[in-house]
Amino acid sequence: MAFSKVVSSSTSSLPSLLLVISCLLAVSVAHSNSYVPSSEQIVKGLSVSFYETKCPDLESIVRKHLKKVFKEDIGQAAGLLRVHFHDCFVQGCDASVLLDGSASGPSEQEAPPNLTLRSEAFEIINDLRELVHKHCGRVVSCADITALAAREAVHLSGGPEYNVPLGRRDGLNFATREATLANLPGPASNTSFLLTSLATKNFDATDVVALSGGHTIGRGHCTSFTDRLYPQDPTMDPTFAEDLKEICPTSESTNTTMQDIRTPNKFDNKYYVDLVNRQGLFTSDQDLYTDERTKGIVESFAEDQELFFEKFVHSMIKMGQLSVLTGRQGEIRANCSVRNSDNVNLVSVVEEDLETAAEL
Ligand code: HEM
Repeated sequence: MAFSKVVSSSTSSLPSLLLVISCLLAVSVAHSNSYVPSSEQIVKGLSVSFYETKCPDLESIVRKHLKKVFKEDIGQAAGLLRVHFHDCFVQGCDASVLLDGSASGPSEQEAPPNLTLRSEAFEIINDLRELVHKHCGRVVSCADITALAAREAVHLSGGPEYNVPLGRRDGLNFATREATLANLPGPASNTSFLLTSLATKNFDATDVVALSGGHTIGRGHCTSFTDRLYPQDPTMDPTFAEDLKEICPTSESTNTTMQDIRTPNKFDNKYYVDLVNRQGLFTSDQDLYTDERTKGIVESFAEDQELFFEKFVHSMIKMGQLSVLTGRQGEIRANCSVRNSDNVNLVSVVEEDLETAAEL
């Protein structure tokens, strides 16, 4: 209907004709099912075609390997998506969360919010790095591989596909425990806290609700939500609470449960349907439906999956570019867990890095 309306008014003038052409282009982009960010959405130094000549097979190598990994265990998709979030929110998307601890102190991985990241996710990223570096040389950063792995996690679980701006460089240092804690909100956070905390990174209420939709896949440990069971949170559906108490009989239980009870491994909008039914796992989830500033957004995503996908992709592209290092900043790590200057297997790393910098 909307389309025929445009056609019928199109013959009168050039601007109308251009409108039709742009509508047709928009339809074809929608059909190819991959969202392409506009140039205003891409930060300086990044580009969706960054590796076009340096590593043209990058995205297909990552996708092919992850298809295999997810076929064996789809849970790994959630682990990879969460690592990208934890990387970007602390000190920017610089792969600092991948670094092992060193003489300068314990790694980001040892800070409380990161203790429940899946160790397999770090291994998968390093496996991808090895495959990519074997094929193209040491030209692709661990931060870019992490961003691409998160995109595949979303897409291969049934979610939207989008083009990832690339060209991030890897950081030389990891954040302290204090910085990690200060930048990653805990599961007991209410919406007021989330809105204030995420506003410091330039995210609005729609971003907060859309990004929380990452919880449509993956698991949570009892310790992340037993505060809502003992004593029982009145905003939680009582039957859901009883089921959770069986999984977590005490507040010290170490079991896990899936976050989205309807479609636990599928990236869809059912997380929001859970919230509307008071079956959200964490306070940070359920309060989005209690707070009047975010309730309407939750309802709109529960009703319209396409709307959720569109907003999620927009916010993910924004999140994936937080404080990125570009150009000559940082380095391209030869091993995602170790910065090059600490890598005993790399003899001439300094010279190689100087050469790379000269090429830029
Ligand atoms: C808004 C604030 C957020 C809070 C408070 C939060 C909190 C949490 C917590 C507590 C867990 C479970 C940890 C465990 O007990 O094992 C978790 C899991 C997860 N989070 Fe978030 N999160 C937030 C935002 C996000 C965002 C922005 C994304 C991605 C876009 C995301 C993706 C995930 C995924 C995929 C899992 C499951 C991980 C797995 O199965 O290994 N979260 N989150």
